[in-house]
Amino acid sequence: MESTRQRLIKILESNRDSYLSGQELSNQLNVSRTAVWKHMKELGKDGYEIEAAPRKGYRIVAYPDKVTKNTLQWGLNTSRVGRDIFHYEQVSSTQDIAHQLAKEGYGHGTVVVADEQVKGKGRMSRAWHSKRNEGIWFSLLLKPELPPVQAPQITLLAAVVLAEAISSISDLSPQIKWPNDILINHKKIAGILTEMQAEQDQIQYIVLGIGINVNQDQSSLPEDIRHKATSLRQESGKTWEINWLIQLILETFENTYEQFIQEGFLPVKNKWEKYGYRLGQEVTISTMRKAWQATLVGIEADGALLTRTEEGIQEKLYSAEIHWGEGGYNANP
Ligand code: BTN
Repeated sequence: MESTRQRLIKILESNRDSYLSGQELSNQLNVSRTAVWKHMKELGKDGYEIEAAPRKGYRIVAYPDKVTKNTLQWGLNTSRVGRDIFHYEQVSSTQDIAHQLAKEGYGHGTVVVADEQVKGKGRMSRAWHSKRNEGIWFSLLLKPELPPVQAPQITLLAAVVLAEAISSISDLSPQIKWPNDILINHKKIAGILTEMQAEQDQIQYIVLGIGINVNQDQSSLPEDIRHKATSLRQESGKTWEINWLIQLILETFENTYEQFIQEGFLPVKNKWEKYGYRLGQEVTISTMRKAWQATLVGIEADGALLTRTEEGIQEKLYSAEIHWGEGGYNANP
């Protein structure tokens, strides 16, 4: 559910060239004119420039893209996710800070977000380019009461959350490349890094790192990954408000996570498969010893990728090199 503030920003944004009266806004938002005025004042404090012209109404002139603990928490419609938020202008990696906070006893849903990471971490010890204000770089501390074998489900869930969030705000068609890269038009737009501390039968905590390329243009993505990475701006042709996107992701995460805790993995699996990249298609798979063709069927509850050979033999894959074909590169941005 979008907050009144988010709806107000949306309405103002879609009427950039015209004025909207306080009355019109109050009707559209179903709140009083005083409430509209208060929201305008808060937006002003957060760096939005709103022109208020007598007898004409309001018009948005400039947006902040200043992420702070306050702008993130203001209007955030969640109960546990984001109750504690730590925002930094520059960090080494938000993952490291989240681990530290977990050790200090911070609870489920704590968020660590940075404008810039100088040592952003990707999967398989790769670097993750996280330049200032160009994307979303955050880590979410989770404390699920689950055994460690179920941890991959949470990573798959996070991929679903990103795909759902992007679909809900754009005409873009995100896809999830197993296990959890988010692609648009075959290029990677977001990645997820899950790190876990666990005892034998109980997860102590998970640090779920999410990186999304948002406002980069082609030239600000490093040259070596330009052919395989993209950003929301490149795909949609417009710039995005980072605060608002983070709120949307946190809200979508909380709802999807609650459904997962109550109903189990099936709804996540079904959604994942709706977005699954190359599902139903044949790809080449290789290990050190052999290469073979198989059709991608879906995912399993343990996070494995289910495949089927021409002979009809089903096999679960945990790690193997998949040759994704056109544009679906293996490497991470
Ligand atoms: C991948 O390789 O696809 C995973 C990328 C994860 C990047 C995010 S950005 C926020 C968090 N902090 C990090 O250092 N990495 C994750």
